[in-house]
Amino acid sequence: MIKVGIIGVGTVGTSVVQILRDNSEVISARAGQDIEVKIGVVKNLNKDRGLDIIITDNIDDVLNDEEIDIVVELMGGIEEPFEVVKRALKSGKAVVTANKALLAYHRYELADIAKDIAFEYEASVAGGIPIINALRDGLSANHILSIMGIMNGTCNYMMTEMTNNGVDYDVILKEAQELGYAEADPTFDVGGYDAAHKLLILASIAYGIDAKPEDILIEGIDNVTSEDIDFAKEFGYAIKLLGIAKKDENEVELRVHACLIKKDEMIAKIDGVMNAISVVGDKVGETLYYGPGAGGDATASAVVANIIDIARSGKSTPMLGFDKPMEGKLTLKPTANIESKYYLRINVSDKAGVLAQITKIFEENNISVETMLQRPSLNKSANLLISTHIALEKNIQNMIKELEFLDFVNNRPMMIRIV
Ligand SMILES: NC(=O)c1ccc[n+]([C@@H]2O[C@H](COP(=O)([O-])OP(=O)(O)OC[C@H]3O[C@@H](n4cnc5c(N)ncnc54)[C@H](OP(=O)(O)O)[C@@H]3O)[C@@H](O)[C@H]2O)c1
Repeated sequence: MIKVGIIGVGTVGTSVVQILRDNSEVISARAGQDIEVKIGVVKNLNKDRGLDIIITDNIDDVLNDEEIDIVVELMGGIEEPFEVVKRALKSGKAVVTANKALLAYHRYELADIAKDIAFEYEASVAGGIPIINALRDGLSANHILSIMGIMNGTCNYMMTEMTNNGVDYDVILKEAQELGYAEADPTFDVGGYDAAHKLLILASIAYGIDAKPEDILIEGIDNVTSEDIDFAKEFGYAIKLLGIAKKDENEVELRVHACLIKKDEMIAKIDGVMNAISVVGDKVGETLYYGPGAGGDATASAVVANIIDIARSGKSTPMLGFDKPMEGKLTLKPTANIESKYYLRINVSDKAGVLAQITKIFEENNISVETMLQRPSLNKSANLLISTHIALEKNIQNMIKELEFLDFVNNRPMMIRIV
């Protein structure tokens, strides 16, 4: 019999208890032994959880209980769960977590402490999709050439509604909050940070890259307007918030931002709250993983799978997928050196000579224009909608700065990278 203590019995923790109860027969057969939740820890003891387990508000009740084999951390946050998980590992207990924020900052320290003690975190990336298992085990024979995916269901839901139903950003954000998809403070989702945490976890497993959120390019969807969506449609693109990891010789670029992606690409067709991640291996080619990236049951499905795995073997494969450092270690490509095609929306005063000056600034920054459209806008202004050939990120950033300070450019130009 394996005994589990769950720290955090909220949306996911409640589903973990229910799945272990509802599917106990099949789980016990798969694990080779029974699995029982002994204690659950919460903050507020007055809430009725409707669960038949012991509930406490003291984390020590789990950490000091010698009978508990596996600590499941589902409380959220970064530093507090870090302390809790460290203590659990140091007392020899296996750990399962769904906490991507914790791992985005502390995964290497935790791997060092865990050593041979099982530490599993399948639910931390793309909820119910077994992407960590796929990368760490199923694709371990490959050099991973790229990972590209929709890793935040809230943003994908919002972009889908804006594209298919013409709903404005503010309206759809409010609706996403009402539906419980977006947090009351939605910055974490729409600012790209949640997707970035997941990308960093995948980058460790695929490439052994030890980066933190502040080391990589992170942008959200908060500047996308209906005009950009119309441009995308006209030129056969969808706009998606993507997490991208790409190997280029001995460097890996890591970035999260809104992307214009050709409509016939598989990822472009993923609508609503679903997640999808494409992984390209040098031997296997392209593989695609699709499913629910959040929600109590979907996320708990991955948490329980980790518990079963530990019950079976009692130990983890190397937590981050590498048993020793790789020769010819890969390094993070500086953001300034990323190359891409770009789309720009520049709102200008509608007067003579403007186009010539803009074109000159493009040339001076070594950026070549692929398409240019001019659309009338409010108050005698016009929107220039421009797509470029492949250019360097530092050149684009420099050009945007120069454009921003011209007296006939009315706002900071909007830029979306084209994948
Ligand atoms: N929800 C999803 O779809 C989803 C998907 C993937 C990953 N995750 C991750 O899973 C984790 C849990 O998410 P969730 O949605 O289940 O969160 P949640 O519903 O807010 O539940 C958090 C639970 O932790 C308890 N808690 C918080 N701080 C505590 C403390 N100091 N001491 C004791 N208990 C404490 C809360 O107690 P009270 O109930 O008393 O407030 C609550 O039971 C997070 O790391 C999240 O990022 C969630």
